Amino acid sequence: EKGGYEHFMFKEIMEQPKAVRDTLSPRIKNGRVVFENLSLTEEYVRSLNRILIVACGSSYHVGMNAKYIMEKLLRKPVEVVLASEFRYCDPIVDESSLVIVISQSGETADTLAALREAKRRGARTLAVVNVVGSSIAKEANDVIYTWAGPEIAVATTKAYSTQLVILYLITLRFGELLGTIAPEEYDAIVAELQRIPSKIEEILEHREKIQYYASIYFNNSSIFFIGRNLDYAICMEGSLKLKEISYIHSEAYAAGELKHGTISLIEDGTLVVAMANHGRLFDKMVSNIKEVKARGADVLGLTGAKHARALEQVADNVISIPETHEILMPSLAVIPLQLFSYYVALQRGCDIDKPRNLAKSVTVE
Ligand code: F6R
Repeated sequence: EKGGYEHFMFKEIMEQPKAVRDTLSPRIKNGRVVFENLSLTEEYVRSLNRILIVACGSSYHVGMNAKYIMEKLLRKPVEVVLASEFRYCDPIVDESSLVIVISQSGETADTLAALREAKRRGARTLAVVNVVGSSIAKEANDVIYTWAGPEIAVATTKAYSTQLVILYLITLRFGELLGTIAPEEYDAIVAELQRIPSKIEEILEHREKIQYYASIYFNNSSIFFIGRNLDYAICMEGSLKLKEISYIHSEAYAAGELKHGTISLIEDGTLVVAMANHGRLFDKMVSNIKEVKARGADVLGLTGAKHARALEQVADNVISIPETHEILMPSLAVIPLQLFSYYVALQRGCDIDKPRNLAKSVTVE
């Protein structure tokens, strides 16, 4: 049942090229994004004042990525709200808001309650869900399925990757309706999106290097993830993944925010995972790496192949990933972080598929 692997989590990490391909391919026809059975019209998308994304945990982190991507490509305000907060904050939503809820299980109690609250206030709801026929899928006005297949490990991997892909597709479709994405850019993103599964495969093939880094760092008692923009969103996911399965304390920080407090926690040997996948922000990341190095941090950098050499000049170790369109980079950058968490937890002898105190589907408040 684990496909010959020791853990479901590892099996699911390895299934990601297929999960992403299965989620992507039925929605791209002749180079264009098509969603069958989706009732959102051009007039409706144009009338939207804002988009809200509501979710919990890793699904919320997908929303954090989507905020950067949608605001950049759609020029509409996007707010990402934790479902447990949305319920009780008297949210500003009405007919001119689209509320996108993201949930692997489709049964998360807070997300379901948030969906009902959004509907009650007159918003249209669009659910991105993995489990067919789940409560959230049934109650949302529209549903788009991630075709990740059953996810058994408590820590999500393939569901996260497929959710991200759906958010790219929604952005492309809305961008086409709004006319905010130039045709050449649209084509370039679609073409690169179709190359994501094989690029994920490439990263998975080179997993020994990540396993090696895990063997150096698995005894650290505190790990920091730093990055800017989309890298920051990926840091949040990398940090959550690590702490939930390895029980190592970790934090995700927007790299520019470190000096406003957190840098005081950096001491000799503290591991800082520094994400540097945005070419235009690369120099800013180099400065942040120098800041933490000066306080004794050990830096594991992650960047696209083009910048690997330059990053090696400042970081102690570097993970290099294939290049892609800048906005698609999260789909690749998250993979080494999943592997790193897995191998660290393995070294520490943790119960990887069933971490203590956690449930796969959180159906209570
Ligand atoms: C983390 C993880 C959780 C879930 C969260 C939401 O690895 O799996 O944080 O992402 O409980 O669950 P869903 O997506 O089922 O609503």
